[in-house]
Parts: sequence; C-alpha cells; structure tokens
Amino acid sequence: MKPLFFSHNGNPELFNTLIESVSGEAAEYENHEFPDGESYVRIYSTCAGRDAIILGDLHRPNPKILPLVFLCETLRSEGIARIVLVLPYLPYMRQDIQFHPGEGVTSRFFAALLSRHVDHLITIDPHLHRYDSLDEIYSIPSQVLAATPCIAEWIHQQIDAPLIVGPDSESEQWAARTAEIVDCPYIVLEKTRFGDRDVEVSAPQAEDYLNHTPVLIDDIISTGRTMIKTAEALQKEGLKAPVCIGVHALFSGDALSAMRAAPIDRIVTCNTIAHETNAIDIAGLLGQALGTV
Ligand code: R5P
Repeated sequence: MKPLFFSHNGNPELFNTLIESVSGEAAEYENHEFPDGESYVRIYSTCAGRDAIILGDLHRPNPKILPLVFLCETLRSEGIARIVLVLPYLPYMRQDIQFHPGEGVTSRFFAALLSRHVDHLITIDPHLHRYDSLDEIYSIPSQVLAATPCIAEWIHQQIDAPLIVGPDSESEQWAARTAEIVDCPYIVLEKTRFGDRDVEVSAPQAEDYLNHTPVLIDDIISTGRTMIKTAEALQKEGLKAPVCIGVHALFSGDALSAMRAAPIDRIVTCNTIAHETNAIDIAGLLGQALGTV
C-alpha cells in the first residue's frame, strides 16, 4: 500500500516533490481550529496497516505541537502501522545544557515528547553542538541529513574564488566540509554572545584572501546578528562584502532588514523553511532518505 502523506504546515512545493519521489498518496483529512483555539482532527483516508509520512514545519513550534500530537494519536487510533516525521528544521536543539541553575534543558523534553508520538524522524542539519548525535536525546531512530553537498554545489555554480567563513566554532563542521567539497580555503572565527541580539565576532586573519569572495555559512539565521557582526569584521579587514548562507531561514524580528542594511552582498538559504531567501533546494536529499525508510 502507498504511504499516506500529511502536511503539518509543510512547505507545499516540498510536499508535492516528496509525494512524487516516493509514489505516495496525499491523505484526505481535516485539521480544524475551533473559535476557542482547540483543535479538531478527522482522517478520511484508510489508515489501517499503512505508513504515514508527515512533512512538518515546526519553526515557531509551540502552537504547532499540540495539533501534531493530536494528528499522530488519531493516526494511531485508526490503525496506522508507522509514523515517519520529516522535519527539515528540527526546533528546540539549542538549549542543550543547563547554562544557569534552574533552567530546563528543553532539547531533552522536546525529544522525549516527539519520541512518544512518532516512530522515525528525518531531519536536516539539526543544531548538534554539545550532543554528538540525536540518539542521545531521541529514543526513536532518526536520519540526520547534511545540506552541505547542496550548498557546495550552489557555491560552485555561483561564486568565483570563494573563501568559506564559519562565524564561530559551532559552524566549523559546515564550513570545513563545504570547503572540502568546493575545494577552496576556509577560516573559522570566534563568536561571543552576550544576549539574543548582542554578539561579538573576532577579527579574521584574512589578508591572503582580499581577492576572494567571502561566503559565510551557518546552520541558523535567527536574529541575523551573527552574520551581521561577521560581515562587519570582514569589512574592517578590507575583505569584499560576503554572501551569507544559512541552512535554516528563521529570520526572527527585523533580521532580514538588518542584514540588508549591513555590508552583505547576498543572503541565501536552503528551503528547509519556506522563505524569500530560499535558493538552495534540499528536496532531493529528503526524497533519497524517504526512499530508504
Ligand atoms: C548558534 O548556536 C547557531 O549556530 C547560530 O550561529 C545562531 O543560532 C545564529 O543566531 P543569530 O542569527 O540570532 O545570530
């Protein structure tokens, strides 16, 4: 039987491509919000013994979680065999330690919640910083895909003489791998964060790269301050205005307008979250992964 495909706020273009790539069937269902904000779910498609694939977008997750849990529980009660959750962007990964006494390590709580309701998780470049693997917090099997080959291909086609720049040590994993595929140099800077929008980035040692095009790579663009401060640090050292590439286009608050006002040449993201800056398509990656589930 064909797998049943559900979209939970998923990117419609990605949804259509994925259904085609694994010959799935779009589920018929209703997910309605009552005037008081409570949720109603009804599934019309036959579920018994089938696999369900849910393409979800959980950027700004809180109001989207309970309807997802209800959808999963309705699928269970209708006899679905297995629930595969495809979350191109996996939220709640950055609070991976108690930075201060009394804080909740929400990455663990969120992982425990999802692991109770779905059977398999597919995601792209989750923010694995202090965890080596999702298995440390998720009790279900997961597939972690890397957007770097797609990013490297884009750079190869679009940028002359690139210099890959990782704004902080966490981004070194993406910067180093991308530079290796593109076959170009890379540098990694040091970032200190004092608050959500208060970031400092060290001055780069980049005098050898004045004729290169800096390409900043990070997993997440949220407030955009990491990219802005990095671009300013490069400008001070006489480098060209950079191209900024983010895997996940969160763009919180004034991030996009602030980045456009900064010494940045282009802003480009992958389509893990639908956004006007999307230019790098990761549908093929997800399609391949789904083909193996
Ligand atoms: C840091 O842990 C992440 O890798 C990103 O550097 C960070 O989330 C970017 O945030 P913002 O755009 O708010 O500076």
